[in-house]
Amino acid sequence: MVEHVRGGQLFDSFAADYDRFSRLEPPRIANWLLTQLPAHAGRALDAGCGSGRHTSALAAHFDKVIGIDISAPLIDIARQRSGPNARYVVSDLMAFADPDGFDLVFSSTTLHHMPDLEGALVRLRGLVRPGGTAILIDNVASRPTPPRWVHVLGALRDVPGDIARVGARKAGWLLKFRTSPAWLRHLASDCYLTRQAFEHRYGAIFPEARFESLGYAHGLVWEKKTPRLLRGVMRFAESPRKRCQAEPSPTQRRRREILPK
Ligand SMILES: C[S@@+](CC[C@H](N)C(=O)[O-])C[C@H]1O[C@@H](n2cnc3c(N)ncnc32)[C@H](O)[C@@H]1O
Repeated sequence: MVEHVRGGQLFDSFAADYDRFSRLEPPRIANWLLTQLPAHAGRALDAGCGSGRHTSALAAHFDKVIGIDISAPLIDIARQRSGPNARYVVSDLMAFADPDGFDLVFSSTTLHHMPDLEGALVRLRGLVRPGGTAILIDNVASRPTPPRWVHVLGALRDVPGDIARVGARKAGWLLKFRTSPAWLRHLASDCYLTRQAFEHRYGAIFPEARFESLGYAHGLVWEKKTPRLLRGVMRFAESPRKRCQAEPSPTQRRRREILPK
């Protein structure tokens, strides 16, 4: 299991702080996600769900949501807030399987932890039901691992905006967390793609996907086509209901009039 993980285990040591950080961050990804959700709300997966900030948002739109994460401490926190239609599982993304599949497969800022990115993308694609959607978001940068000072400068730059958004006390806490040795050590193990490389590598596995720039991250939206045979079966299954509801054609009406009752 461990060979699939890069930097993932590091979250265990600061799970409570990451949870607080993730809930104080501007909800840019969450807001965008809500505009992209498919109309059909069945089952959703949040792969690398952390403490479940997006999983709980998805639970408001889907009948059933499963959040998976390799970090047991983060899953413990997520479970404390879990609603009746959300389930959390400690699992490596590379080991997770589900025979029923999902109407939405979602992942946010997790895939840069996967040493075998293509393998992870193929696995996620396989979990999408025919007619379902994949929405994958990950950090992008102009170089794979930005140096420490870039993160520190970014944290300082965000202070005035954070004060206006969440107040001085929480902004102070955000600055402390984002410049803490534990968080900076974690960031030093991250490995990001450029936007172009993201579109190239994700697009090879998800052909005809749509991409969107989301500030420090990039997003993919992909719909899995329903195979022609399955479309035929679905039409056939629906046809009696359609016949009942349809108006009789002029020929059918004439026939009914002339045939003996
Ligand atoms: C930056 S956090 C994002 C968490 C969550 N998606 C969010 O937006 O708050 C990355 C997450 O990926 C998880 N992770 C890393 N490697 C993983 C793997 N192989 N399988 C499942 N989760 C993994 C980490 O434990 C962590 O919770």
